[in-house]
Amino acid sequence: MRNPDGNLIDRFLKLKEERSAYVIAHYYQRPEVQDVADFVGDSYSMALAAREAPCETILVAGVDFMAETAVILCPDKTVLTPEPDATCPMANDITARDVLEYKERYPDSIVVCYVNTPAEVKAVSDVCCTSSNAAKILEKMPPDARVFFVPDRYLGCNIARRLNRDLDLFHSCCPTHEEVRLHELLELKQRYPDAKILVHPECRPEVVDVADFAGSTRAIIEYAGASEANSFIIGTECGILHPLQKAYPGKEFILATEDLICPNMKSITLEKMIYSLEHLETRVTVEESIRDRARIALERMIEYST
Ligand code: 13P
Ligand code: SF4
Repeated sequence: MRNPDGNLIDRFLKLKEERSAYVIAHYYQRPEVQDVADFVGDSYSMALAAREAPCETILVAGVDFMAETAVILCPDKTVLTPEPDATCPMANDITARDVLEYKERYPDSIVVCYVNTPAEVKAVSDVCCTSSNAAKILEKMPPDARVFFVPDRYLGCNIARRLNRDLDLFHSCCPTHEEVRLHELLELKQRYPDAKILVHPECRPEVVDVADFAGSTRAIIEYAGASEANSFIIGTECGILHPLQKAYPGKEFILATEDLICPNMKSITLEKMIYSLEHLETRVTVEESIRDRARIALERMIEYST
């Protein structure tokens, strides 16, 4: 990945000031995008950062469900995306109809939706979750309740195993994390026997089974910092290497598989962020009736996670 020239960075920072914009980025963003952000985090902390943003304009450097979450939680703020086509293929796999059909079949069930969903799906779900709080939220569900977890079948399966509880699962998964393969991980572990294996819970269950730790992007970074180990095999998108290397320069981080790239996350560039702030485009909106219902599921997530 090329290094952006300093002029672009200076131009962006000047515009950010002129527009009084608050920039929230995900750890999978390009290094230069993370470096100019006011806040960098996992999906959950990005949502909280949006709620607490000290400015009226928020620029979200992440995929569309992250910007939509900011709109839903802060309806009075202007939320901008530098790339409206940056989306999450897993989130796009599910529709509100899929959830409503399930609800028709099992009217007493509870629908827990991963934050990686369109606003329309959140609007028909009971509670939302992210990878950082999914287990905590599911633990709050009545033990005998029938629960539909959407849309990530790997995340759902990993949590169901951890909590020893049955969940009905939608069939989707993340095409990037699906690329982490058990045999490659085991080969790497042979080459680096002292390395700890840290993976995202969107990985296949057999991958999570052999990991020393599975958690959200932020939790992976925190684990690496707190651990006495000096080398780590990382099973999540390559963007996380930047904050890891920046925070712990003395430690070694080895990516579990080559090409662990989310192309949608990487479609955001400094040039697009400059255009976005110059023209105040593209404004992200969510239709009011959907927004109000989706907000209930998101606020419930925050209430149950604290
Ligand atoms: P985190 O919430 O762990 O940052 O994950 C977001 C995501 O899209 C993972 O693929
Ligand atoms: Fe979606 Fe996977 Fe990209 Fe995360 S890494 S945004 S789950 S496609």
